[in-house]
Amino acid sequence: MLSHTQRSLAPEAVKVTVRPARITDLPTLVELLCQLFSIETDFEVRPTRHARGLRLLLGAVHRGRVYVAVAESRGEVVGMATVQTVVSTAEGARSGWIEDVVVREDLRGTGIGTILMADVAHWARANNLARLQLLADRRNRPALTFYDRLAFQTTNMICLRARCTGKAPPATPGQGRRAPR
Ligand SMILES: CC(C)(COP(=O)(O)OP(=O)(O)OC[C@H]1O[C@@H](n2cnc3c(N)ncnc32)[C@H](O)[C@@H]1OP(=O)(O)O)[C@@H](O)C(=O)NCCC(=O)NCCS
Repeated sequence: MLSHTQRSLAPEAVKVTVRPARITDLPTLVELLCQLFSIETDFEVRPTRHARGLRLLLGAVHRGRVYVAVAESRGEVVGMATVQTVVSTAEGARSGWIEDVVVREDLRGTGIGTILMADVAHWARANNLARLQLLADRRNRPALTFYDRLAFQTTNMICLRARCTGKAPPATPGQGRRAPR
């Protein structure tokens, strides 16, 4: 857990603490995710689903592969970030996917996001992750500036996705099919 004095909330400095999330934080975390998914146009604001996702994450925390960090100020949760680890065969080690990075709207630009990301980086080092990565909406300029300032670099990879509907896509002859060997 990290404790910091926030940069620029005049007149008095406000202390921000970052700690692991608790199940009792869930309603506030859902509100934060609603703020986030109203910005990221790949996603929809669906509070029930966000709550279900958070419960899945919090249920996996004890296995040490997941971290849900919350920033707290004056007893209120004001920001969050999550990390889920995967094995990277390229690195020969675990790496971490950062998701759900959001600070309460009225407190953005006051240093809380930077403090959260420092805590996430600290957790990643403590858990021997080789690197951290994340996806960001290409139109979210403030977030891209934020990550650039934290030394995240754009890569040549792009995100592709398909829904798991329960039906395998039909195999088209000549597309990725080989004669049995
Ligand atoms: C992106 C976000 C998490 C950053 O957290 P934050 O607490 O607002 O950021 P900080 O105050 O720590 O800012 C750190 C740096 O990021 C950049 N930055 C942050 N907000 C910015 C904005 N609105 N416009 C331009 N740059 C911005 C600045 O370079 C800033 O450094 P500076 O204050 O010294 O100029 C937060 O603004 C947020 O919740 N945004 C909406 C949700 C979102 O877009 N999340 C990212 C999903 S990928």
